[in-house]
Amino acid sequence: MQPVELLMAEHRLILKMIGQMRGQSERMELLQSVNAAFVDAALDFLRNYADRCHHAKEESILFHLAAKKPLPGPMRRVMDELTEEHARLRAHVGELAAGRQDNRQGDPDAWRKVVAGLRGLIALCPAHFRKEEEQFFPAAMETLSPPEQQDLIERFHEADRRLIHEHYALLVCEWRPAGAPTK
Ligand SMILES: [Fe+2]
Ligand SMILES: [Fe+2]
Repeated sequence: MQPVELLMAEHRLILKMIGQMRGQSERMELLQSVNAAFVDAALDFLRNYADRCHHAKEESILFHLAAKKPLPGPMRRVMDELTEEHARLRAHVGELAAGRQDNRQGDPDAWRKVVAGLRGLIALCPAHFRKEEEQFFPAAMETLSPPEQQDLIERFHEADRRLIHEHYALLVCEWRPAGAPTK
């Protein structure tokens, strides 16, 4: 098995969530209201699975390793584009979170920001994954020997193992009662 197959399996789950987001965003636009339960679930998924689990494996492990390898020039540019697209995806998640915050504060137009954030993700994610799977992943794998690929699989698994401990450590450190001062 190639290490990128693990990343491609994660793409499949994220694309299923994109499908849910498409249906929910159409419904929220039709009703001109926010489905808060769905948006909260989507934010949890996007922040913890899509970003901290998936994009972090790409940026902190695969891209970091590929940067030290003799990648063809065009592939270095593709890697920069992918990193920039991760930043754009995070900005769309930020817009979605801002819309949810407006909704929490009673803004009747909050659905607009929520739908815009979801639409940004729906538009960008599938093309981003295609670019990774059809261009960058095959080129990056060509630069790695079988032992390096095996080591990469181990590093991906180790990142996954660490994630749940980091997640709950963060939850405990950041939790405070509603209304309590932030500092
Ligand atoms: Fe990516
Ligand atoms: Fe990816």
